[in-house]
Amino acid sequence: AEVDGKTAFITGGANGIGLGIARALVTAGANVVIADIRDDSLDEAAAWLDADSQVETVLLDVTDREGFNDAADAAEVRFGKVHMLIGNAGIGIGGPVSEAAYDDWDWGLGVNLGGVINGLVTFLPRIKAHGEGGQIVATSSQSAMIPIPGAAIYTTAKAAALGLMESIRGELEADNIGVSAFLPGPVQTKIAQSGELRPEEFRENSGYAQHERNLEKRPNSPLWMTIEEVGERVLAGMRANDLYILTHPEFRAGMETRFKAILASIPNEPINAERAEAIAFLLSN
Ligand code: NAI
Repeated sequence: AEVDGKTAFITGGANGIGLGIARALVTAGANVVIADIRDDSLDEAAAWLDADSQVETVLLDVTDREGFNDAADAAEVRFGKVHMLIGNAGIGIGGPVSEAAYDDWDWGLGVNLGGVINGLVTFLPRIKAHGEGGQIVATSSQSAMIPIPGAAIYTTAKAAALGLMESIRGELEADNIGVSAFLPGPVQTKIAQSGELRPEEFRENSGYAQHERNLEKRPNSPLWMTIEEVGERVLAGMRANDLYILTHPEFRAGMETRFKAILASIPNEPINAERAEAIAFLLSN
């Protein structure tokens, strides 16, 4: 859909990919609310976007449902209506699954999946109510399709965010609300610094403290994509209402291998015509 003159709410918009998306949207004439848990980054981000009349910042932890509602109110006070929700806030979390404690699962799923859900529950009624249509985008990850070894929590959240976007797409069509899943490959961001953001309550019993310190030392490669480039790709995908927005052809072979393995696991038996009808009925409801 067209974004010019419309308003977007971007979680995790003060750094990295969310900031790149904000830049592309502002340049395309949209108003942008960047919501983030990093207070210091919000001011820097607004300065970098350099478009006061089109940008609002709001401090938000996406796991805080009441805070989400307040942030949505603030966005509407500033710009009237919100049309686009970009559920992008996320943290990097990795380590062997056998060392993952509940604190790691709860933090990882709470932000990377729960944040997307909280945004949807907050904004969907508001977008439906104004009747002008809109776009829901979740930043999943290429790793939802080709899991990164040693990142079970991350992959679980990202695969679920993808499934969520796929499942709501048809339902929201009638309200002229488009749905996209963004599945980027590696991008130059601050994600390695995610450990700074782990709340105290999820620290004491974490099994991942050392893995988090290791991740902090991981430098960005100049070969990873820039936030400006991913921002443009997301903007194009939103305009075209693409369900899947991907970035890297380097993952094609791996995805083909995966889909072939899935297809190969389908029982090689004749289709039962009556059962096929019953299944079609189930899918049409
Ligand atoms: P980043 O760390 O540069 O930006 C993430 C932003 O989200 C930060 O500003 C951070 O303060 C914010 N944030 C974190 N937890 C939050 C919370 N609880 N509430 C509100 N804001 C919160 O990282 P990046 O890479 O830009 O990450 C954005 C999204 O992209 C994430 O969902 C990440 O999983 C995803 N992604 C990143 C890839 C990469 O290579 N960097 C690849 C695939 C997906």
